[in-house]
Amino acid sequence: MKVIFIGDIVGSPGRDMIESYVPRLRKKYEADVVIANGENAAAGRGITEKIYNDLLFSGVDVVTMGNHTWDNRDIYNFIDDAEYLVRPANFSEEAPGRGMTQVTKNGVTLSVINLHGRTFLPPHDDPFKKADVLIEEAKRVSPLVFVDLHAEATSEKIAMGFHLDGRASVVVGTHTHVQTADERILPQGTAYITDAGMTGPYDEILGMKKEDVLYRFKTNMPTRFEVPKSGRAQLNGLFVELDDQTGKATYVERIRINDDHPFRFER
Ligand SMILES: [Fe+2]
Ligand SMILES: [Fe+2]
Repeated sequence: MKVIFIGDIVGSPGRDMIESYVPRLRKKYEADVVIANGENAAAGRGITEKIYNDLLFSGVDVVTMGNHTWDNRDIYNFIDDAEYLVRPANFSEEAPGRGMTQVTKNGVTLSVINLHGRTFLPPHDDPFKKADVLIEEAKRVSPLVFVDLHAEATSEKIAMGFHLDGRASVVVGTHTHVQTADERILPQGTAYITDAGMTGPYDEILGMKKEDVLYRFKTNMPTRFEVPKSGRAQLNGLFVELDDQTGKATYVERIRINDDHPFRFER
């Protein structure tokens, strides 16, 4: 199975990138499944039902979330019915929605799990223990398991990579919005990257208007961050090839599209 993951979609510039590049990326990599993190898809905070449906229409198969899951209240209206939307599995047992879903393409099933880190972020249930439980559950269905760990600390994400090495097919990190250059296959066969990066404004700060972010840094005054409507945009993510029998990764490649690294069809 060939899988594309796309990092945090930020606002309309991010959604526009999805619309224009997912079809091209699907073709280029002959991808079976496209997964994207949508926690910032609605103006930087959360997701709406319309945006979720638009992402599926653009060719995204599964949407993962993160610390901004509940920021747009529309999510409460549709999350329980959204089969292909996964929010962190180690949120409270009382939280609506699901932490794992399955997608089947050409007779091959992939489980997708979303987890939330606990370092420099609000405390949630133990993501390592939760991963153990869910991976066992997933393996009863298929050996192919994809994990998006939404976390701040590079060490926590690397720890999860090694914790799941040989058990998950892929562990990607999200949340920092900055792509790391450490994509690799771990010794027991898990494809890994510390952060996939984000998809949205290219000339701003983590997707938010740079003037607002600079103002906060310079004054320490409360500031409301906004996603700009126009300007150059970028798309970041990861491509992996998985062995359908063993569930192990056989190939990993970073995806980075921006004006300094333009999209090319040839590989
Ligand atoms: Fe994010
Ligand atoms: Fe986040």
